[in-house]
Amino acid sequence: MIDELNALLAQAKDELADARDEAQVEAARIKFLGKKGSLSAVLRGMGKLAPDERPRVGEAVNSVKAGIEDLLERAKKAVAERALDADLRREKLDVTLPGRPQKLGHRHPVSLAMDDIIEIFARLGFHVADGPEIEWDVYNFEKLCFPVDHPARDMQDTFSLDPATLPPPPKGAPDPPTRILRTHTSPVQIRAMLEARKPPIRVITPGKVYRCDSDVTHTPMFHQVECLHVEEGVSMAHLRGTLDAFVKAFFGPHIQTRLRPSYFPFTEPSAEVDISHPLCGGKGCKICKGSGWMEVLGAGMVNPDELSGVGIDPEKYTGYAFGVGIDRLAMLRHGIDDLRLLFDNDVRFLQQL
Ligand code: DAH
Repeated sequence: MIDELNALLAQAKDELADARDEAQVEAARIKFLGKKGSLSAVLRGMGKLAPDERPRVGEAVNSVKAGIEDLLERAKKAVAERALDADLRREKLDVTLPGRPQKLGHRHPVSLAMDDIIEIFARLGFHVADGPEIEWDVYNFEKLCFPVDHPARDMQDTFSLDPATLPPPPKGAPDPPTRILRTHTSPVQIRAMLEARKPPIRVITPGKVYRCDSDVTHTPMFHQVECLHVEEGVSMAHLRGTLDAFVKAFFGPHIQTRLRPSYFPFTEPSAEVDISHPLCGGKGCKICKGSGWMEVLGAGMVNPDELSGVGIDPEKYTGYAFGVGIDRLAMLRHGIDDLRLLFDNDVRFLQQL
């Protein structure tokens, strides 16, 4: 019986040496150690042995069983190693190849322009003031010297809001507090002056504004920045100087500015401001219609009525203000001719900038 057991161990050794995969190792396990396997068959024969032979044979059975188990374990390991080797040989990986770059997003040209504007004015001593996009009619128009029914209101097609859809107005609000989507950033002038109470006041107010208008050069939402400076002794010369410094810092030192008389209810006198066209350098081109100039902003000396309306003495203080479309500036800077391209957010377009 002991010979039989040793033969079994030798047979297991031969078979497992040839095992190619896990399935063959498992088949050998079942064949030698399974319930109906060879070792069980030998064990069943033990009943016929003389009692004094049993311990010796039992010991031999245990040691053969342990031997086969060890062989199975090694065969399993060998099969796994071979499989790994084969995988490594098959999947050649060139670690010296450059990696695939992660695609990064882009700052939007309008955000870039806005950041630059804030930085330029910070250097000139202005700080940023903020106001709500849902604005009171009083701030958007009346306090800026557009009384109800004033014809200048027609210059700005206004989105009105249904009061029933709005949260209740704060305590002390004028009655009835008509609210609209602000049509320009000028109402922040009023808020800034009411808040500061006492000049000197030097603020810029970038933000979104809304008008009921849509074509190649207009979108219902666009961006403006307002500049306001109120102090003793401020004159039109300061306005020109600030405008010139801003335009040169934004577009380059070669850019010229010129003022043309205009009308806004909240400034007296008022002006429209042209800059020499950044793309043709003032020589004249298709976009500037051959004139060499582009109108970019509205400006003027703050109307004394506006100052007294917010409790600032117009005998003592004067101020200048201007308002400019940020989208327009971004378009001019990058030579974009359709405003809507800025808001389509087509990555292929934005990547060019
Ligand atoms: N708020 C005016 C508009 O949107 C632009 C403007 C004109 C702003 C003159 C000003 C200003 O501050 O002084 O059409």
